[in-house]
Amino acid sequence: MVPSQEEARNRQRVDHERILVTSALPYANGPIHLGHLAGAYLPADIYVRYQRLKRRDVVYICGTDEHGVPITIRAEAEGVSPKEIVDRYYVNIKESFAKLGISFDNFSRTTLPLHYEVAQDFFSKILKKGYIVEKTITQFYCTHCKRFLADRYVNGECPYCHFEEARGDACEICGKWLEPSVLINPRCATCGNTPQAKETKHWFFKLGELQDRLETWIATKKHWKDNVRRFCEGWFSEGLEDRAITRDLSWGVPVPLENAKGKVLYVWFDAPVGYISSTIEWARRRGEPDLWKKYWCDEGTKLVHFIGKDNIVFHAIVWPAMLMAYSDFILPTEVPANEFLNIEGDKISTSRDWAVWLPEYLENFEPDPLRYCLAANAPETRDSDFTWADFQRRNNNELADIFGNFVNRSFAFIEKYFSSRIPEASAISGEEEKFLNRLDSEKKHVGDLLERFEAKRALQRVMNLAKDANRYFDSKQPWATRITNNKDCAATMYVCAKAVETLGLLAEPFMPFTSEKIRRMLGLRRQGWDDSSRIESGMTIGKLEILFPKVDDKTIELERNKLGKGGEKVEQVTIDEFSRMDLRVAHVVEVEKVEGAKNLIKMKVDIGGETRQIVAGIAQWYSVDDLKNKDIVVIVNLKPATIRGVESHGMLLAAEEGDNVVLLVPDRKIGAGTKVH
Ligand code: 2FM
Ligand code: ZN
Repeated sequence: MVPSQEEARNRQRVDHERILVTSALPYANGPIHLGHLAGAYLPADIYVRYQRLKRRDVVYICGTDEHGVPITIRAEAEGVSPKEIVDRYYVNIKESFAKLGISFDNFSRTTLPLHYEVAQDFFSKILKKGYIVEKTITQFYCTHCKRFLADRYVNGECPYCHFEEARGDACEICGKWLEPSVLINPRCATCGNTPQAKETKHWFFKLGELQDRLETWIATKKHWKDNVRRFCEGWFSEGLEDRAITRDLSWGVPVPLENAKGKVLYVWFDAPVGYISSTIEWARRRGEPDLWKKYWCDEGTKLVHFIGKDNIVFHAIVWPAMLMAYSDFILPTEVPANEFLNIEGDKISTSRDWAVWLPEYLENFEPDPLRYCLAANAPETRDSDFTWADFQRRNNNELADIFGNFVNRSFAFIEKYFSSRIPEASAISGEEEKFLNRLDSEKKHVGDLLERFEAKRALQRVMNLAKDANRYFDSKQPWATRITNNKDCAATMYVCAKAVETLGLLAEPFMPFTSEKIRRMLGLRRQGWDDSSRIESGMTIGKLEILFPKVDDKTIELERNKLGKGGEKVEQVTIDEFSRMDLRVAHVVEVEKVEGAKNLIKMKVDIGGETRQIVAGIAQWYSVDDLKNKDIVVIVNLKPATIRGVESHGMLLAAEEGDNVVLLVPDRKIGAGTKVH
């Protein structure tokens, strides 16, 4: 008989002695945004907090990923050193995680000497075991920038979906993992020049040799999420190939070989090793330097990697293969990968500033409403959407009106009519018993869901319990029984106090700051998930605190309006640099649509005695007739490019706001070819 998915899952939940949880190491090239949080950090923190409440031996490891092209590109854009970038964002990221209550046991960084040692040892050992080979290959080289163009240093057309701005390592639109060499019309991302092919030596990880072992291993992971399994199957069916794990860059972990001067490890080779080096750092900090080995080498550890879906191939294939090749360490037990979070219906884009940044959020709001809102909308099985209106609705109508209201009305009643003392429970009846049992059994239901990484459903149960607690309060009418049947009123309020305690406990993985406030009002210390209730008649309730202040429309509107307005910090340019751009007024002479390309328009423009052909993606906003005879502004000394097979020799200037595009035109009539400065 084929076991159901549920049975398979349960069977996999063998009792491990200890749990090691990691969240993908964020690149230290910018602040954290909600997309990061929803994918790899909040779900992990909820899981870890639950495990700690269950008093399990759990360690939660993370740190910043400080190498690779994402860092150096950012540094170049700002005209500062990579070191300056990673130092800045290590602090920024660490602080904002702490404020949101992401409770890492260790938050390291991959530029520490310890990490270099561990990463280099990984390379050396895998090399010794024969899983790394040296090959001479041709790679793109920019003769203008005088360097090899690795990963995101090359842009071009994606061979799969034909998006023209795909990056050398991946296509943002279709999500395919790319190699620079497959790009159509490659361009140097820095200067725009067409790169040349040039020979260079690199080291390759023999992923292909490990395919059988990987397939056998993944086959035992029947309970893994569909997205992860399907992804791996896709990779296996295409056949795994050897992958270059070194780069010609100056920023990174040096390749530990005499004949590899100027080469560094590929960031995706060194970053996951960061999980191990961060655990070593944690053990050293605790004064038990060997403790990390128990977590990484003993089969009794459940190793859980929380990631976003863009990281699946690395965590479910490449990293396990590295661990297999190294052979001293355990393999990942679980790889709960989440889908993406969109913002207001649109894909998050840091370059368009279409993102909600955590440090900015924290300047204006409390952490828990965001944790709640993201967990309630968790992209567990499909992409989900964050909207400010939903944030407001969840804060006001769910957290304040249901959860907060129950806590507040219960405690306010006890304060007012029982002098802040939890009343006697001498009149407990069947109805009370029933609700008390419900409180107890809810712990199991919520716990089971959390154990299975189903935080969204677990949170729904917590909120339903708060709703039912309000119903219980309403149906018991303590405001009436206070006069007609004081004993019954006392029993009701005793039960309500227990309900508040349970809600505080069940909410703790999701909203730790709120739980802390509830405990403070009850004068109780932190409780374990399976501990019995500590509510007793006669206990005094402290000063009431409002759990969730309402958020008004104006505040929400302000936040909504910030979207898409910031843009990435732009590099400053000198007047000389600016004057190298030859900008001119151009008169549109001929216009036609480019066949087979929905948004492209081809124009002949007069730039003062010379006619140029330019291609622009503006058909969605301008018709052929709109453009005919218009005066526009064109940069004429931009290197020619071929767009969809049509040569474009110049680029028009336009302003873009969200999905609206407007052409820049001279304010009054002026001759074609006039210089613009
Ligand atoms: O995608 C990213 O943001 C990477 N920095 C994740 C690295 S995860 C790991 F392997 F360290
Ligand atoms: Zn270049």
